[in-house]
Amino acid sequence: MTINRQIRLKKHIKQGEAVSMDLFEVTESEVPALKDGEFLVKTDALGFSPAQRAYLMGEASRFHEPIEIGDVMRGRGVGTVIASRHEDFKESEVVACSTGWQDYSVQSGDTEGLLVKTLQKVTNPQTPLYLHLGILGSSGFSAYFGFLDIGKPVAGDTVVVSAAAGGVGSIVAQIAKIKGCNVIGIAGGPEKCQWLKDVVGVDQTIDYKSEDLYERFETLCPDGIDVYFDNVGGDTLDAAMKNIALRGRAVICGQIATEYTDPPLPGPRYYYNVIYKRARMEGFFVWDYHESFPGAEQELIDWYHSGQMKSTEVVYDGLLSAPAALESLFNGADCGIRVVQL
Ligand SMILES: NC(=O)c1ccc[n+]([C@@H]2O[C@H](COP(=O)([O-])OP(=O)(O)OC[C@H]3O[C@@H](n4cnc5c(N)ncnc54)[C@H](OP(=O)(O)O)[C@@H]3O)[C@@H](O)[C@H]2O)c1
Repeated sequence: MTINRQIRLKKHIKQGEAVSMDLFEVTESEVPALKDGEFLVKTDALGFSPAQRAYLMGEASRFHEPIEIGDVMRGRGVGTVIASRHEDFKESEVVACSTGWQDYSVQSGDTEGLLVKTLQKVTNPQTPLYLHLGILGSSGFSAYFGFLDIGKPVAGDTVVVSAAAGGVGSIVAQIAKIKGCNVIGIAGGPEKCQWLKDVVGVDQTIDYKSEDLYERFETLCPDGIDVYFDNVGGDTLDAAMKNIALRGRAVICGQIATEYTDPPLPGPRYYYNVIYKRARMEGFFVWDYHESFPGAEQELIDWYHSGQMKSTEVVYDGLLSAPAALESLFNGADCGIRVVQL
């Protein structure tokens, strides 16, 4: 008999409330027998995204159905297929998918509970497997496609990245250096700024908690910002748009500073520069690139093995550390990509 530990939602979170184990309860149950078309995945590691806060608030997002009290907490993980009655998934293959916060998940290859296709067969598994949630997984793909396809960088461009010490941001900054750009990373606090220089290798940093963004952009980007990769929105987006270069590109990836405010804050200021600077603001959604993941994965693996790209994962230990790992996205406790190793 195989027992599955599951973290289930006990109550929805309120605005401003921290994510903690108090919101959840741990249950144990037997792993169910597989039906035709199903396969069983043993979770190796879990990844985290700010979007998970929306599920905890009991809200449906544009891409996910809400999770109800008593449901297993939804989340992406990577794991190994340990039994299969599905013709496309064989034992010992590795997949990254919506495992939920649990030791084992029954998968059907469909997009159950999700309104988009997110299941990915990992064709070239690397050790440790959690890399496929980080630099070689959804964070890496968000950085890769958002920066390269939407940002369209050219060597010599001045590139500004917000939440640059976060998961997606730290990878964007590294790809921008590989592409020969002048990279300015924005982060909260002197330690994170030092980490950006020492580990990520950015050229300049801005500590948005103690420095004036408008003044710093004028000093560091006298010819304007060619590519602004936005993970936060709000004041940072405003300051970047005020300083966007002629034909600059603002890549709208995330809005962690404003996304969860109710009612929503007023929209961006200085967007008139889209006209005067013939600039472009464009959002993207990483799962739209699902079919192109294998090619991106191989290029990210090559950069990783050649030493051009460093792994920035922060590893939390054990299933029960999942709430703390998620909360660290909002209290800014860590640098890099948060993962839980089961
Ligand atoms: N478009 C897509 O397809 C896609 C895909 C993946 C992720 N995303 C979005 O991209 C963004 C980055 O995702 P991620 O997973 O890599 O998260 P992340 O950047 O690692 O998020 C955590 C970091 O955000 C910063 N932060 C938190 N609250 C903030 C606030 N109020 N103001 C400014 N900064 C704040 C903190 O850095 P500091 O300590 O430096 O403040 C924190 O370390 C998120 O908004 C996410 O929703 C979009």
